[in-house]
Amino acid sequence: MGIWIDTDMGFDDIAAILVVAHSSLLIDGVSLVSGNAPLTQVRANAASAAAAFDWEFPIHTGRELPVLCKLETAQHILGQSGISTTGKSLPPVGELPASDAFTALCDWLEDGTERKRILALGPLTNIAALALARPDLTTRIDELTWMGGGVTSGNHTASAEFNAFADPEALAIVLAHGLPLRMVDLDICRKVLARPDDVDRVRQVGGKNAELLGDLLGGYVNIATSRGRLAMAIYDPTAAAIFIAPEIARIQHARIDVELQGQHTRGRTVVETRASHVEFNAHFAAEIDAEKARAIV
Ligand code: BDR
Ligand code: CA
Repeated sequence: MGIWIDTDMGFDDIAAILVVAHSSLLIDGVSLVSGNAPLTQVRANAASAAAAFDWEFPIHTGRELPVLCKLETAQHILGQSGISTTGKSLPPVGELPASDAFTALCDWLEDGTERKRILALGPLTNIAALALARPDLTTRIDELTWMGGGVTSGNHTASAEFNAFADPEALAIVLAHGLPLRMVDLDICRKVLARPDDVDRVRQVGGKNAELLGDLLGGYVNIATSRGRLAMAIYDPTAAAIFIAPEIARIQHARIDVELQGQHTRGRTVVETRASHVEFNAHFAAEIDAEKARAIV
């Protein structure tokens, strides 16, 4: 059975796609969204990654702007391309063929009878657009695993995780339409870490991309080490690991809401696990076997 990936194509997105591509899951399609960088750059990253890693699945162009707010990227942390490096960068290649993600996603959801699984690794703009325009099709989605949100804290701001902050209205729409959200948040991803010695491990794996992957992982780990931390959370690949092998996590039912108003808390995900207080509307990964996750990513 094939799956769908929605992504803003930074380094950890690429790593997550490589993890899925090396699993038994078949990638039917990928949709791109602005996030780590603006959509033009995300498209360029996707074209380069597809060429470097011999990806054969179709890659479609999604939404350029969030549902309501202005675009705020992570380029101030990740650099202009949204992908840091200590040496080699992804070689630039030509444009991706123009192909509309909304149409492709609708066609995929309409095709066949099996229930569909989506892995979302960026702001939820494309999925919200689907929910608004084709709510009938969202019932075909069996699972929407999303790297985003923070149960106890944020990273883009003190309150909000980046993917939630970048388009909180999209997350609110996804929740309001009852999509089967399975949130893999910051707290869980921070249990699965990449350290400087992992960079050498990647280089030693060999193969035509070992040096490139080592340099890109080095750039990614530097984001943390240059700020005095010992290791970097492997965000999107952790969501991919749970998507591939849900048994490595304890998935908990909860009420998840997103703050849309707060001056200092916009984009914060609010997770309530007391069934006596609220009606549950989503799931989140409450615990993870970090060793098993690292063995997958
Ligand atoms: C998330 O934000 C992006 O920068 C990463 O690719 C990841 O999806 C982490 O907050
Ligand atoms: Ca991402």
